[in-house]
Amino acid sequence: MQNYLLSFAILLVGLVVAIKCAAVNAPPANIDFYKLYDNPEAHITFKDRRTTRDRIAAHGYPAEHHHIVTEDGYIVGVFRIPYSHKLQNQNKIRPIVLIQHGLTSCSDAWILSGPNDSLPYLLADAGFDVWLGNGRGNTYSRNHTSRSPLHPYFWRFSWHEIGYFDIAAMIDYALKTNGQGQQSIHYVGHSQGTTVFFTLMSLRPEYNEKIKTAHMFAPIAIMTNMENKLVRKVGPYLGHRNEYSLLFADQEFLPNNDFLLSLFSNFCDADNELRPVCENALQNWSTDSRSNMTAMPDGLATHPSGCSTNQMLHYLQEQQSGHFRQYDYGPQKNLEIYKSEQPPEYPVENISSELHLWYSDNDNMAAVEDVLALSDRLPNKRLHHMEDPMWDHGDFALNIEVRKYLNEPVIEIMKKYEEM
Ligand SMILES: *[C@@H]1O[C@H](CO)[C@@H](O)[C@H](O)[C@H]1NC(C)=O
Ligand SMILES: *[C@@H]1O[C@H](CO)[C@@H](O)[C@H](O)[C@H]1NC(C)=O
Ligand SMILES: *[C@@H]1O[C@H](CO)[C@@H](O)[C@H](O)[C@H]1NC(C)=O
Ligand SMILES: *[C@@H]1O[C@H](CO)[C@@H](O)[C@H](O)[C@H]1NC(C)=O
Ligand SMILES: *[C@@H]1O[C@H](CO)[C@@H](O)[C@H](O)[C@H]1NC(C)=O
Repeated sequence: MQNYLLSFAILLVGLVVAIKCAAVNAPPANIDFYKLYDNPEAHITFKDRRTTRDRIAAHGYPAEHHHIVTEDGYIVGVFRIPYSHKLQNQNKIRPIVLIQHGLTSCSDAWILSGPNDSLPYLLADAGFDVWLGNGRGNTYSRNHTSRSPLHPYFWRFSWHEIGYFDIAAMIDYALKTNGQGQQSIHYVGHSQGTTVFFTLMSLRPEYNEKIKTAHMFAPIAIMTNMENKLVRKVGPYLGHRNEYSLLFADQEFLPNNDFLLSLFSNFCDADNELRPVCENALQNWSTDSRSNMTAMPDGLATHPSGCSTNQMLHYLQEQQSGHFRQYDYGPQKNLEIYKSEQPPEYPVENISSELHLWYSDNDNMAAVEDVLALSDRLPNKRLHHMEDPMWDHGDFALNIEVRKYLNEPVIEIMKKYEEM
């Protein structure tokens, strides 16, 4: 899935550039494509995009949409399945689980395969209070108490801030809102959802006490052996402080994302007459029989979900440096911020919470050697190597057997912890 999304994102960049070029003689600067197309005189009128809440509710589950304010003023949109309508367990103790998505993704990624296979539904039906996070800057989290997403300062963050501020705020908010006096939660993250966890738990060690078990799907911190071709190609240019990376930094990745998301949402969403075309195009595109292709149109309708270019730059810096360390602003600003010319390493040795690392041989983002190198530094971990040699980065989200090989074992570990 991540691979499709990446190719797709690149396709979109091409499209945006093409549209921009075509519009070169038209009004300059930020063209609002959304307004341009969403106009009764044009032939398309957009419907509102369905949110994670709408998609969950469509399956009959109770669903909530929360807006959580972080210490530094960002407002992140978080979804919740508070209990299971099948169990009618709203008055029972329901242990909290927080689930966090990967780069350019969002809460929708977790529910694509529906109630019989997707982790949030299975957790709800196992008696948990399920929270689906969204990092600052994505579709559900373009919001701030005083700063507009149209202002470039809004985009001055990396996954560092998502971990340090957003995840911390989500944990505290979920504990408070659950209202059952719970002191700690279970956590699940995929890809960047693991990076942000390592960031928070190493720099604010007191948060480890709020974690029961944490499940890292395709953990990403050390990136020395990552095989992803695109990353290896652009890393030498963008992974260092230079004129290329400065041009790319501090902005929204895909500035016209909102328009494109609306377009694809309208094109691929379940109740649209054009859905068969979307399905057809996808079928011809892929011969992959491992992923749930039925879930793909919804994937396209909700992705890519937006992020800051600094999130990508920060990863490229890690890939180039071989370190898991804070954002590199260049020697001068580093001295100001960190009191050293090089950014400081994240002290992962101080992550005391119970970590479960789920990793695989065929993952071109989280290489086995890198996961093991990280694992050597973690004091309290369990390794779960995926048996299937073909299991890749996207399989953690969309493999047709994700229930059997991943979701059920994870839920078993949580239930055992809870003695449920
Ligand atoms: C932004 O946050 C406010 C305050 O919580 C909320 O009412 C509003 O719906 C949010 N807007 C968006 C676009 O998420
Ligand atoms: C695939 O996704 C569809 C659509 O959400 C869902 O109905 C189906 O149960 C999923 N199947 C598997 C094996 O994950
Ligand atoms: C749900 O998943 C289970 C286990 O993977 C499978 O045996 C069953 O057929 C699925 N049910 C439906 C309705 O898809
Ligand atoms: C997909 O392939 C089928 C069969 O080869 C073909 O009839 C159809 O036109 C193709 N669709 C697209 C969108 O390319
Ligand atoms: C890790 O924890 C130890 C013990 O609390 C502390 O002395 C040390 O400063 C921490 N390391 C970092 C880099 O924060």
